[in-house]
Amino acid sequence: MCGIVGFVGEEHAKERIVEGLKRLEYRGYDSAGIALPIDGRIEIRKHVGELENLEKIIADPTFDAAAGIGHTRWATHGAPSDVNAHPHGNQDNSIAIVHNGIIENYQEIREWLSTEYGVRFKSDTDSEVIAHLIGIYYDGDLHKAMNKAVEDMKGAYAVCAIAAAEPDKIVAVRKDAPLVAGLGNGCNFIASDIPAMLKYIKEFYTIENNETVVLTKDDITIYNEKGEKVKRDVLHVSWDADAAEKEGYEHFMLKEIHEQPKGISETLLRRLDANGNVVLDGISMSKEDIEKLDRIYIVACGTAYHAGLVGKSIIEKLVKVPVEVDVASEFRYRDPFVDDRTLFIAISQSGETQDTLQSLREAKAKGARILSVVNVVGSSVARESDDVFYTWAGPEIAVASTKAYTTQLICMYLIAMYMGRTRGTLSQEDHDRLLGELKALPEKVEQIFQSEEKLAYLAKKYQYKEHIFFIGRGMDAGVAYEGSLKLKEISYIHSFAIAAGELKHGTIALMDPTVLVIALATQDGKIGEDSLYDKMVSNIVEVTSRGARVIALVKDGMEKVEQISDEVIYIPRCADEVAPVLSVIPLQIFAYYVAKERGENIDKPRNLAKSVTVE
Ligand code: F6R
Repeated sequence: MCGIVGFVGEEHAKERIVEGLKRLEYRGYDSAGIALPIDGRIEIRKHVGELENLEKIIADPTFDAAAGIGHTRWATHGAPSDVNAHPHGNQDNSIAIVHNGIIENYQEIREWLSTEYGVRFKSDTDSEVIAHLIGIYYDGDLHKAMNKAVEDMKGAYAVCAIAAAEPDKIVAVRKDAPLVAGLGNGCNFIASDIPAMLKYIKEFYTIENNETVVLTKDDITIYNEKGEKVKRDVLHVSWDADAAEKEGYEHFMLKEIHEQPKGISETLLRRLDANGNVVLDGISMSKEDIEKLDRIYIVACGTAYHAGLVGKSIIEKLVKVPVEVDVASEFRYRDPFVDDRTLFIAISQSGETQDTLQSLREAKAKGARILSVVNVVGSSVARESDDVFYTWAGPEIAVASTKAYTTQLICMYLIAMYMGRTRGTLSQEDHDRLLGELKALPEKVEQIFQSEEKLAYLAKKYQYKEHIFFIGRGMDAGVAYEGSLKLKEISYIHSFAIAAGELKHGTIALMDPTVLVIALATQDGKIGEDSLYDKMVSNIVEVTSRGARVIALVKDGMEKVEQISDEVIYIPRCADEVAPVLSVIPLQIFAYYVAKERGENIDKPRNLAKSVTVE
């Protein structure tokens, strides 16, 4: 998610903007930049990577001004790079802009600007067109030019612009992307988020959709769509900057857990056409490519690997092609059977995990087609893949992955549904039924949040357990692995996941009254002898009869399980196939509260890194 900061005052714009950008780091970014009007021209400096990289190239004290704009970029169009970083200038850099959002018709505008005005683009971004549009409309009045440019733009945007000829002014506009103006004394701010300005000021104006705002050091003037001045009440804020970055949540992990309904809908809706069919926009796999596949490997690490386990079940079921799931550190050394009829699916939140990347290279060298499911746009895995299926989880800051996992699952369903339809192994009716189930998920995840208090209570009750086992069958087994990982990585409690049917082949020896078992039993679609639910009931009885305490996780309506378990957690009713997206949520929340009760460093657990770029 991009971050915008603008400052206009009497001096030291650079320091204020950099401080603001640092405060927006929590949103995640891949590059940063700053533009200042200096001596009648706009000087833009930007750098890929951490803010430190930018700080090095702006350290020179002559690079400063009374006003300026800055940006941290989270790539959507165009890979993270120096040229794609913001700010963007027009042809002669007399105008510069920063942008948060997506300009949907940027390609059309690009073509028009290059044919009509001979504009030559420097970057691959959608945002650059804004600078050029303002540039061609500019006749000495930045506000007027911005209004004209907005008429041409479709999509979502918060844009801030500066002009060399008006160095003491910033003009900004907002449509479906956050923007807040900050009221200072002899200076004013504009930013995508309040935390960016909290060090300096505590009074703000919210900017509403389709409003433009003109800032000078003494004034903030807001205009509505018709160009009329708008009177806005001042918002007084008493929070400190740290709390504000987490939007009131105590930890990023909890915030990200709560962002899952949004991440799931985004990931889903961006891949559906008006008729509700899955579209693989930007993915070049043809019908023939899909038809010729005879084997699929899903390769990933940690949580992403667990998403692959669910992916295997769903792809095999809908596409009827054998799928192998492997942890990347094993795959790359085991000389797997890969040829040009193999599809290799890499799953990675960061897109930088070394083992996943090396496995991808290995499979590519042997002729496999590479499809990656990645959250970070333009990351190494994304760049080296034939096709990329992005998750739209937004930046994930907490080390323990939550929203990346559920959005990876959504990608697995969409890939399976698309391939199933293409190969004729999935009927339109089943496709539509599954789609309906997927669309209902965000609302059902919200319903699970209503059990948060109960989960916090269970966490408090069981926080001193030394061993916690997670068991499940079928798709529940994959989720059991993820629930166990979540718990151990942030609470440091020893935890182990196992397919419930495997218990009796050894692990059951460990069952005694000191043990807690979390039993997932959501797979109740099939009734009768083969019912996984009935088998799970037997497994629960197996462990309770040896004294273990049991928390069962089932769908609403399966109250009978209360008779054989110590506690029961319910998720809303849904088709068995999509249950993993729901059943993991209480496990994430439980893990979070156990770690909180134990006073652990939830967002940055010991010994772990967000992106594992070493072998
Ligand atoms: C656990 C977790 C890790 C990552 C793993 C792969 O919560 O986050 O297990 O899933 O290190 O990382 P990515 O997805 O970035 O390849």
